[in-house]
Amino acid sequence: MESNPKIERLLKLREESLKGGGEARIEKQHEKGKLTARERIDLLLDKGSFEEIDAFVTHRSTNFGLDKQKFLGDGIVTGYGTINGRPVYVFSQDFTVFGGSLSEAHAEKMCKIMDMAMKNGIPVIGLNDSGGARIQEGVSSLGGYAEVFWRNSMASGVVPQISAIMGPCAGGAVYSPALTDFIFMVENTSYMFVTGPNVVKTVTHEEVTSEELGGSMTHNSKSGVAHFSTANDAVCLQEIRKLMSYIPQNCEEKVPMIESKEPDASKAAALENLVPLNPNKPYDMHDVIEGIVDKDSFFEVQKEYAENIIVGFARLGGRSVGIVANQPLQLAGVLGIRSSLKGARFVRFCDAFNIPLVVFEDVPGFLPGTDQEWGGIIKHGAKLLYAFCEATVPKMTVITRKAYGGAYDVMNSKHIRADYNVAWPTAEIAVMGTKGAVEIIFRKEIGKAEDPEAKQLELEAEYTEEFAHPYRAAARGYIDDVILPSETREKLIKAFEFCQHKVDTVPKKKHDNLPL
Ligand code: HXC
Repeated sequence: MESNPKIERLLKLREESLKGGGEARIEKQHEKGKLTARERIDLLLDKGSFEEIDAFVTHRSTNFGLDKQKFLGDGIVTGYGTINGRPVYVFSQDFTVFGGSLSEAHAEKMCKIMDMAMKNGIPVIGLNDSGGARIQEGVSSLGGYAEVFWRNSMASGVVPQISAIMGPCAGGAVYSPALTDFIFMVENTSYMFVTGPNVVKTVTHEEVTSEELGGSMTHNSKSGVAHFSTANDAVCLQEIRKLMSYIPQNCEEKVPMIESKEPDASKAAALENLVPLNPNKPYDMHDVIEGIVDKDSFFEVQKEYAENIIVGFARLGGRSVGIVANQPLQLAGVLGIRSSLKGARFVRFCDAFNIPLVVFEDVPGFLPGTDQEWGGIIKHGAKLLYAFCEATVPKMTVITRKAYGGAYDVMNSKHIRADYNVAWPTAEIAVMGTKGAVEIIFRKEIGKAEDPEAKQLELEAEYTEEFAHPYRAAARGYIDDVILPSETREKLIKAFEFCQHKVDTVPKKKHDNLPL
């Protein structure tokens, strides 16, 4: 057949665009245990579903000899494809080209993807591996970043935005992910920091490694910036696919139902006697969750951060739900600054994207102390309260044991418009725990008693009988029912069915003023 130079030109350009920064740099990337931008997209998306756009884009810079260094695609691969058949837009930064740094053209490619995602109501997934602003481009690069940040902010709450940090993300490269809904990190190969260890050393004289300053564990357990820590690139991409199965395409849609799966029989059976009768004895709230939700469906978010609250997605009768649960195993499940922030952010995501909420409550109150008060527990605790108050998705609460004080109000109480509130027979709904209450209200009687210790115990027994149960709250209709643990799953599934067309709104406003 006669050769066609025009077609050959296209094929040659296509081939060139696949090479990124060249063989040597790709090898270096692999040596570090990292995949290339294209290999990552292949693992993220359904096989053969990726359609690339803007493969021929190059930078327009001439400074510092850049006019002699052009790579097709300019350090970022962009396009769209599917995850389990559902469409997503993707960008994947290519560290082999100028360290994945962001030029004006590179930013334009990101912006195009985000604009298309917004227009079509489709999630955006960003695979980040970038040294930050392309230093040679100066302010054009800064402008490019700001264009991206503006789009992240506009897209927030409209389409889900997911970020994976898969390399050293420095400077501007961290702020776009910070504006998105969820951040995945890869252990040992990914870092996030505004300024790296060298700048830190110069300014604050602290000696710190990249891993300590901004590695996966740092951001998953200390700062709370990240939501998932993963062992390597492949696991990270697999986990993103899993997350996508729980969330809708945009704020107008709901998550498709899937087939319901009964929980593990032994876990369901264990529910009945799971909560110890001694209120000071802990138990693992994960066992409650797993005994109720569909088998193997619980997908925990921010597992390593503020472990006194558990948040994550699950399926209940095939329906995607967001779970918020106090964890009596950690600090008795108390609410502190970090746990309030963690809970509030998750509740707001679920509400923004029509994912109904289930709360499992066993909370002794807010954490006391100067650390907490000076750190602003009042305003941070208020964020969780605000998040539950403003949430208009169907929202249910199961009180398994303690619902004390302000925390009773905060944790999705009836008064802040929860739809179905139930308590187990082990629930204690009161202003505070027995011992504390007796010490305050009977201080004089105990002081005057012949045997103060015996008097205290006698009064505690009386208080427990009077107040440490769910029936006073039930008598006022503050909870809708007292149920057996074994009935919880079926009753929640039914309640969600009845609330599935719930219509609730917040008053018209420009926007709210969340206590930041
Ligand atoms: C241009 C860059 C670059 C950058 C890396 N490269 N970062 N080119 N602009 N920002 C290039 C390198 O020259 C090198 O090119 C290749 O990418 C790989 O970089 P290495 O340093 O060899 O890799 P490594 O040792 O793995 O170190 C990665 C790194 C380091 C930690 C990211 O490169 C680094 O510290 N880069 C600078 C980070 C930074 O300060 N960025 C600007 C932040 S200010 P060759 O040709 O050799 O392969 C910022 C402001 C925005 O972002 C603010 C908005 C709010």
